[in-house]
Amino acid sequence: MTKGCFITFEGGEGTGKTTQIPLLAEYLRSCGKDVVVTKEPGGTEVGRELRKVLCTGDPDKLDPLAETLLYYADRRMHLQQKVLPALAAGKWVISDRFADSTTAYQCYGYGGRIKKEVMDALYRIAVGDFYPDLTIVLDIDPQKGLARSLQRNETAAEKEIRFEQKELAFHNNLRRGFLEIARTAPRYVVLDADKSMEELYLDIVKTTEERLLDR
Ligand code: TMP
Repeated sequence: MTKGCFITFEGGEGTGKTTQIPLLAEYLRSCGKDVVVTKEPGGTEVGRELRKVLCTGDPDKLDPLAETLLYYADRRMHLQQKVLPALAAGKWVISDRFADSTTAYQCYGYGGRIKKEVMDALYRIAVGDFYPDLTIVLDIDPQKGLARSLQRNETAAEKEIRFEQKELAFHNNLRRGFLEIARTAPRYVVLDADKSMEELYLDIVKTTEERLLDR
């Protein structure tokens, strides 16, 4: 069976993922790839309900472990219903966030209240021995990213700002988390997201070409 490629985008708030992912998808389609764009949380019907619980409302409404389990419930549904079938059909899947977000937000963000061992165990149970082929981490100073994200949400019908409302220390922690995670395996590439949209797009295309299209 032909196997597609799995690309994940990660990073804190307001890094430009939502703008860049459709641009990369278009580029890959122009290279002849069949591309599926998806996201976590919310890549499935059940996931969209979980997203409402996870991304709206009181920042402190969920116990951190309960929150972590809900992200993994979303991920499990997403993998089974969407990501794995698409990859098995030879498609390229680009996901706006995946498991590294849970490690960064729920482990590092909450200052280690959820242990890394718990996170690794959940990954083994819910995901198994499966990893993205490429993970692009978009990095930006949280203060700049948060300002961008809050501005984008100003005009949104449903305000998804549960995490944006958390204190700056939470966001500094998770940024550090992403940078540490990115040092653990060759599949990670960290790109400076404090660049113009065009410059960042060129960096993303270059990275994808070097890592996946040339192989
Ligand atoms: P988004 O803003 O990139 O669409 O992501 C939704 C929010 O959910 C964002 O604030 C990050 C958060 N999140 C986690 O805290 N843990 C996770 O595992 C995922 C996938 C997202």
